[in-house]
Amino acid sequence: MSHPRILVARSVFPEVIARLEQHFDVTSNQPDETWSKAQLIEKLQGKDGAFTTGGERIDAEVLAACPTLKICANMAVGYNNFDIDAMTAAGVLATNTPDVLTETTADFGFALLMATARRITESEHFLRAGKWGKWSFDMFAGSDIHGSTLGILGMGRIGQGIARRGAHGFGMKVIYHNRSRLDAAQEAGCKASYVSKEELLRSADHLVLVLPYSPASHHSIGAAELALMKPTATLINIARGGIVDDAALALALREKRIAAAGLDVFEGEPRVHPDLLTLSNVVLTPHIASASVPTRLAMANLAADNLIAYFRDKKPLTPLNPAALASR
Ligand code: DGY
Repeated sequence: MSHPRILVARSVFPEVIARLEQHFDVTSNQPDETWSKAQLIEKLQGKDGAFTTGGERIDAEVLAACPTLKICANMAVGYNNFDIDAMTAAGVLATNTPDVLTETTADFGFALLMATARRITESEHFLRAGKWGKWSFDMFAGSDIHGSTLGILGMGRIGQGIARRGAHGFGMKVIYHNRSRLDAAQEAGCKASYVSKEELLRSADHLVLVLPYSPASHHSIGAAELALMKPTATLINIARGGIVDDAALALALREKRIAAAGLDVFEGEPRVHPDLLTLSNVVLTPHIASASVPTRLAMANLAADNLIAYFRDKKPLTPLNPAALASR
């Protein structure tokens, strides 16, 4: 019997390609070419499954043009590149990679918070530029992390990981806002108190965004929300581009209406709003929150496991739209 045919849309670990080749007829993109939508559709012709990485848009147009497709396994926990309703209607299963990246991403959120509040990258650029002539009392004086108020918008697994680090590691007071409130045991586990979004914005010394992107969360932080924040506050976005209005943020940072921002994700990435690039009070990283070697390998293997399990017995590990299984 011939193997199912799958497309791996981006370059991934060679050992994961080798694993997939034991189960599938694999077309890979190890040169990591950037494909247009038309090229993606062309590459998907005749394929039964796809290994995607969060950047490949799978929508009604792609699905209509690729009728043999049965599953798309995202190597990412976020899946805003998938039109889930269209996939379910077309009977195409979607999977993602929850859990395996939670702690690594929470580590990074905290690292970005510390780099931003303590002005680490800004001061390093100063030193490397040969500008350090003498010590001074207020040189790169930032804001404290220990004992401050940590605000978290979006309290899923990663948000709770950040809350635990803040509460237990740094003695921070943790407040959060989320679509649904955690139960009492979860709140106690990360010593977090539920507040309204307005109170979160007004009270946080450091506000970390960890909510999923959807049309409903588009520009959750814009000019009006930034205006509520403390002038000494820092804002950290490790969620998705589009959750923050980057133009409004750049203006607020330029006018020092908030102290600083740390951004790992951007509207329209890999493009970055040009105004952000000119500011010294923002730390910019290229969407690397989950990028430790063990975690990226675990994510790739979980995406592969989903493909293998789907074609073996229709029991994927982390399905997003199990209703799609019923129609196959
Ligand atoms: C995720 O898993 O959603 C991360 O942002 C990596 O893409």
